[in-house]
Amino acid sequence: MAASSPTSPTPSAPATPFSTVIRTASHEQHTEAENSSFMSDLLGGRLGVTAYRRYTEQLWFVYRALEGASEALADNPVAGPFIRPELARTAELERDLAHLGGSAWRDGLEPLPATAAYADRVAACARDWPAGYVAHHYTRYLGDLSGGQIIRGTAEKAWGFARKGDGVRFYVFEDIANPAAFKREYRTLLDALPVDDLEKQRVVDECKRAFRLNSAVFRELGEQFPLSA
Ligand code: HEM
Repeated sequence: MAASSPTSPTPSAPATPFSTVIRTASHEQHTEAENSSFMSDLLGGRLGVTAYRRYTEQLWFVYRALEGASEALADNPVAGPFIRPELARTAELERDLAHLGGSAWRDGLEPLPATAAYADRVAACARDWPAGYVAHHYTRYLGDLSGGQIIRGTAEKAWGFARKGDGVRFYVFEDIANPAAFKREYRTLLDALPVDDLEKQRVVDECKRAFRLNSAVFRELGEQFPLSA
């Protein structure tokens, strides 16, 4: 009976690390985003550089929302530890876009409706819900450090960008010498997220939402760049 006595509780299995929970929970959404027809066509080399440019423009709106909040959240106990200058992508996106669209790339540039909705959600989390912001931070930056590298390789080959040069700088993290080690550290931060279990579940849900928001952008891009049969 010792095991059920209040003074010696039954030893429970160690909890699954939160980084594993969030990765596993979003696996299905990841596969969906990865297999969207726009992404498949882009990575299959079936689309022109204009499609790549449009996609890069959408990313710029999303990263402006993510990184526009960096300063305000830097000292936040939940989101602050994730904000690292070596991750920042807005300047790289701007260099890529100047390469792709010339110096006037920003003139008249509007987000797709799905992109505007995505950026608005990121901005709302940044403003009102730091743990939700972490879900968006994770979904973008850990993805960029992983599958993003596949996209870079394809883009270099398909559209002739210099290796790690203008056009694909978004995918190049100059100040992260060892991405695998960086990702390990990032997962350690996720595991230590200072929120309770209910809030962690909400973060997982927000991560799934972040994937859905990405898929919606791919859908709208796919409508703009259908493969003419
Ligand atoms: C064609 C597009 C994509 C490819 C080829 C791709 C590929 C990959 C690969 C190979 C990994 C590494 C898995 C691992 O380390 O075990 C990864 C991880 C990840 N990807 Fe993607 N991905 C794509 C699209 C996306 C999109 C659209 C998002 C969301 C915006 C995303 C978010 C993530 C995240 C958050 C991780 C880290 C998972 C973790 O280790 O916790 N990926 N991706």
